[in-house]
Amino acid sequence: MAYKAKLQLRNLEIWPPLALAPMVGLSHSALRSLVIELGGVGLLFTEMLSAKRLPDENPTVSPLLMRSSDEKPLFYQVFLHDSSPVIAAVEKLHLLQAEGIDLNLGCPAPKLRKAGAGCALSNNPKTVKEIIAKFRKSTELPVTVKIRLGNKSDRGKFVELCKLIEGEGGDCITIHARFDDDKFCRKPRWECIATAKKHLTIPIIANGGIFSVEDARKCFEISGADAIMLGRGAASKPWIFSEISETLFGIKRKSDLLLLRDIYIRFTALLNLRFSHERRLGRLKQFTHYFAESYPFGHRLASAVQTSHSMDEAIERAEHFFDSNEQLSY
Ligand SMILES: Cc1cc2nc3c(=O)[nH]c(=O)nc-3n(C[C@H](O)[C@H](O)[C@H](O)COP(=O)(O)O)c2cc1C
Repeated sequence: MAYKAKLQLRNLEIWPPLALAPMVGLSHSALRSLVIELGGVGLLFTEMLSAKRLPDENPTVSPLLMRSSDEKPLFYQVFLHDSSPVIAAVEKLHLLQAEGIDLNLGCPAPKLRKAGAGCALSNNPKTVKEIIAKFRKSTELPVTVKIRLGNKSDRGKFVELCKLIEGEGGDCITIHARFDDDKFCRKPRWECIATAKKHLTIPIIANGGIFSVEDARKCFEISGADAIMLGRGAASKPWIFSEISETLFGIKRKSDLLLLRDIYIRFTALLNLRFSHERRLGRLKQFTHYFAESYPFGHRLASAVQTSHSMDEAIERAEHFFDSNEQLSY
């Protein structure tokens, strides 16, 4: 089957073909390190970064650029609304030793849409063409693009966008299998990815609604994609890549049995290591919102952490929750 192969993006070989999605507030250095430690992930993304502001960000202090040497390969995702920031952004990404550059054409957030970026930009093929051509000219790194399925009223138009991206030298497209206005709770439309696949030669990464090994298998089979990307599923079960890669690709897990409590506490330690004091608690709260879903009474963990006023208080409350709940392991 196609998905049993390595994902080749220019000189970069990606194995296994499993990616951590770009997610604001979640796909930061601590979560990226955690999933690397737990194993089974082949490709990492940053959260979306403003291409315009990127050149002025200081990597020694910016929480957005914080990165440790184990977080590899790491693709930096950027958003922009025209091609003017491309060259300076690429220069900065070379300095940061990015392994790849990803363009956000899928974010439906009103703020981005209003600015003509994210999924609004995907409706502007002329500018997309210019942007990708400029990226292609200014770097040898893989240039990838993340899109949604576009407008429901214009079904199939996203295939034209994919062809344009391929034509301008894009190396790979991640397709989040939802229309621009679909909510995250809507069932993903993996079969639409299969339609795009028929018209393209570059690899496709399928994204949306993968929360288990069975979802991963189904998504590969229905979409015919070369790789899959997980977002929320990776925040609720950071070990999910190791489960998928063991079952689908026969890659032995790094660790046999881990308590969820230990994984959570390791995450707090990584937050403490990587972020300044005032940047930790918000990230812990956001992560806990998803992680707590692994527990039958997880809402108690989520609300205990949510109402904490400091990291220490949140960790103490989480410990209390773990003490009074079954020792779940994976
Ligand atoms: C909290 C959050 C933040 C997100 N931020 C980004 C982002 O910065 N860039 C992006 O392309 N998509 C972003 N997404 C969308 C995800 O990358 C992914 O496409 C979406 O969550 C569907 O995948 P999933 O069902 O595996 O979560 C975000 C999603 C969530 C839940």
